[in-house]
Amino acid sequence: MASVATDYTNQVVYTDEVADFSPEIVEEMRAHLVKYPADRKRSALIPLLFVVQRERGYIDNEGVNFLAKFLDLEVTDVWETATFYSMFNMRPVGKYHIQVCKTLSCRILGEPEITGHICDRLGIKPGETTEDGLFTVTRVECLGSCGTAPMMQIGFDYHEDLTIEKVDRLLDTLKAGK
Ligand code: FES
Repeated sequence: MASVATDYTNQVVYTDEVADFSPEIVEEMRAHLVKYPADRKRSALIPLLFVVQRERGYIDNEGVNFLAKFLDLEVTDVWETATFYSMFNMRPVGKYHIQVCKTLSCRILGEPEITGHICDRLGIKPGETTEDGLFTVTRVECLGSCGTAPMMQIGFDYHEDLTIEKVDRLLDTLKAGK
């Protein structure tokens, strides 16, 4: 079947192609799979999505097709999990993926100013990546750190009790490659 661009995310291109992973990566996936009962393969979906994202840079259609076959699931089962969690990216992101929490506590305590400041400094809008591929900024739902709002996640690290000054120091550090 030919690739079909859809407006699902404006980024995903659907195909029947299946990702080809090396034997080592398939073995790593099997190691996750055996942690769960044989009739509960679906339970391995989240760790396997992390493997696909690491290997392919984001959750792409071919990777989803692979997981559907690997876990005996419908493709839609895989998509509905992948698209539910903001930790999975449906498109390539920069080296530093800045995910700013936009939910109530963070929003009340300054998220709009924080996001605006980050975007102004980087010259992009939320959802965009800088031309040098270093930074992507995304506004996401609650990251479970409401008591230290406003906050954001970069990679796997949380940055909390944000102020404009803190954000500036952080961006300077990341830009300097430290
Ligand atoms: S509202 Fe921002 S972490 Fe919960």
